[in-house]
Amino acid sequence: MGRHVSVARMNDTPINLYDHEKLAHAALDEAAWAYFSGGAADEITLQNNTRAWQDMGLAPRVLQDLQGGHTHIQLLGRSWPTPMLVAPMAHQRWAHADGEAGMALAAAAQGCGMVLSHQTSTPLQTVADLVQGEAERGPLWFQLYWQADHGALRALMAQIEDAGYEALVLTVDAPVQGVRDRERRLGPGLPLPEHARPVHWQAQPPTESAGLCAGHGNAAPTWDDVARLQSWTRLPVLLKGITHPLDAAQAVRMNLSGLIVSNHGGRTLDTQPASARLLLPVVDAVQGDAAVLVDGGIRRGTDVFKALALGADAVLVGRPCLYGLAHSGARGAAQVLRLLRDELEMAMTLCGCRTPQDITPAHLQWPGRS
Ligand SMILES: Cc1cc2nc3c(=O)[nH]c(=O)nc-3n(C[C@H](O)[C@H](O)[C@H](O)COP(=O)(O)O)c2cc1C
Repeated sequence: MGRHVSVARMNDTPINLYDHEKLAHAALDEAAWAYFSGGAADEITLQNNTRAWQDMGLAPRVLQDLQGGHTHIQLLGRSWPTPMLVAPMAHQRWAHADGEAGMALAAAAQGCGMVLSHQTSTPLQTVADLVQGEAERGPLWFQLYWQADHGALRALMAQIEDAGYEALVLTVDAPVQGVRDRERRLGPGLPLPEHARPVHWQAQPPTESAGLCAGHGNAAPTWDDVARLQSWTRLPVLLKGITHPLDAAQAVRMNLSGLIVSNHGGRTLDTQPASARLLLPVVDAVQGDAAVLVDGGIRRGTDVFKALALGADAVLVGRPCLYGLAHSGARGAAQVLRLLRDELEMAMTLCGCRTPQDITPAHLQWPGRS
């Protein structure tokens, strides 16, 4: 959990995201806790994700004119109130009966966006119907994993478009799951309850060919598949899990609408650097030719501020939203986003930034800065 102050006892009102984490730990059984909170292998990346934001110092400007300040941003042709989205996370009905529906309502209520996971346990139409009428909501995006069955993938994409989702997010950093010791200790197979099973997910057909990871490497998507996906949709496409500047440059050449700098919350390839460290080289490679978002380890409004200072257009928040959901359903997830939102406003005010556009690299002071 990094260095922080958390004082939550069971009946206290959570005052920060670490309090929500404690309450979620108490609410979930051992298997669900291992799945939702765990990371890959020694969890080095998981720990570093939080720590790297903490290690970055802020350089406030004082005596700035803050009248009419706000946190609205403009991205992919639309504006919304808070530069945050809920990250795509699988099986949310395992955390709480409110599941993805509750999460989407919480995001909408807080003016945040929501990225629905391909492995959602709630139908995509249900989620879309619930939030589409909310005037102040952020965008609704759908996250996809590449599928060997192109017909099924295209049929799903048609449903996503018809339901009114505003962008597709193709996750490219997890052709296999990664080594997750906490889950492996529970025994073979995730003990997923029936009601939390993914409703749009087609198990990949068993491969007969040999090769990396018993043939799973053969089904991993390539740049050609990205081009294929772009040609199949009229929606903007973002790639999630871009961390190398050369991959970022390739994505720009292919006219991708956006990139999400992410190490999958430290759940896939352990010892990858923290996403806070991966962001700037990607921003430099993209040079404003695509949207750049980041996730991983964001636990404070100051972390959101730092991400924007490094050039991110917006951030995604993962586990903390699940933690809020786990102990209090939609209300808990909304509380988490509200805390982050309030803390961001506080950080902006104290750093002398009237709007997100005013946040620049000059507001940061850290040793790793080149
Ligand atoms: C329980 C869990 C399930 C996840 N499922 C998905 C998923 O289905 N698709 C995906 O692209 N990323 C998935 N992720 C990764 C998140 O989208 C995000 O990258 C990560 O959680 C961000 O780090 P944070 O949890 O520290 O905020 C999952 C993360 C968690 C914790």
